[in-house]
Amino acid sequence: MKITVIYGNNRRGSTYHSTEIIKKAMLECGEVAFEEVWLPKDLPEACLGCFNCILKGEGHCPHNQYVSKILDKIISSDGIILASPVYGLDVSGAMKTFIDHLCFMWMPHRPHGEMFSKIGFVVSTAAGGGTRRTNQTMMKALNYMGLRRIYSYGRAVAASSWEDVADGKRLLIKKELSKKARRFYFDLLKRRSLRVRTFTRILFMMMKGMISRYKDDNLDKEYWRAMGWLKDSKPF
Ligand SMILES: Cc1cc2nc3c(=O)[nH]c(=O)nc-3n(C[C@H](O)[C@H](O)[C@H](O)COP(=O)(O)O)c2cc1C
Repeated sequence: MKITVIYGNNRRGSTYHSTEIIKKAMLECGEVAFEEVWLPKDLPEACLGCFNCILKGEGHCPHNQYVSKILDKIISSDGIILASPVYGLDVSGAMKTFIDHLCFMWMPHRPHGEMFSKIGFVVSTAAGGGTRRTNQTMMKALNYMGLRRIYSYGRAVAASSWEDVADGKRLLIKKELSKKARRFYFDLLKRRSLRVRTFTRILFMMMKGMISRYKDDNLDKEYWRAMGWLKDSKPF
């Protein structure tokens, strides 16, 4: 099994250590290979809003040299972990930059067929508040890419570093996260046979209707047609 982990900061802090708990619990269940992406190191440029990815193709993104490497990792993985600290009550800017660069493969544009059978896990830590909103931001991105199922976990750690997190809190995080990580692992084993969520089915049908009504052909419409999705085919 292969998992891509995207870290929303370059720091070995509470978010990183929480993710380590997930990784350890999964490795106790069986064989897992982890590919790691560190932001902003592995994607140091913000989206310029040039629309090239949407209108001309993702290969035309001025930052394709970074984005394509990350995408290759994701597409060849069974699951994706997005791990972000809370900055200003939401994801880190680096995580948002990553999400922006992948909007071309959200369902209103050109979702990748492989994404529909992958499972996600979003995790965040805050000093006090904001993990709920932060996890929602990351979940929304994965939902719009069509993921089959998404786990989430957020905790206020009342600290600026993992070393300063109280022992009792660390134990609680370990207990709760290990439990979720085991469920994540066993879902991954049967990911292609898991039920497709109503949200995914409805959004896909809405986008099919919207795109088929486009008067002129564009890249998105050509893609949906080539995939057979404007007729009876579905990516799930
Ligand atoms: C720029 C910045 C903004 C932050 N904003 C918030 C916030 O809005 N709410 C909060 O509770 N903590 C906030 N924090 C604290 C971090 O979310 C918290 O310490 C988190 O556990 C850090 O994760 P890390 O150890 O993985 O770096 C902020 C920290 C930084 C550096």
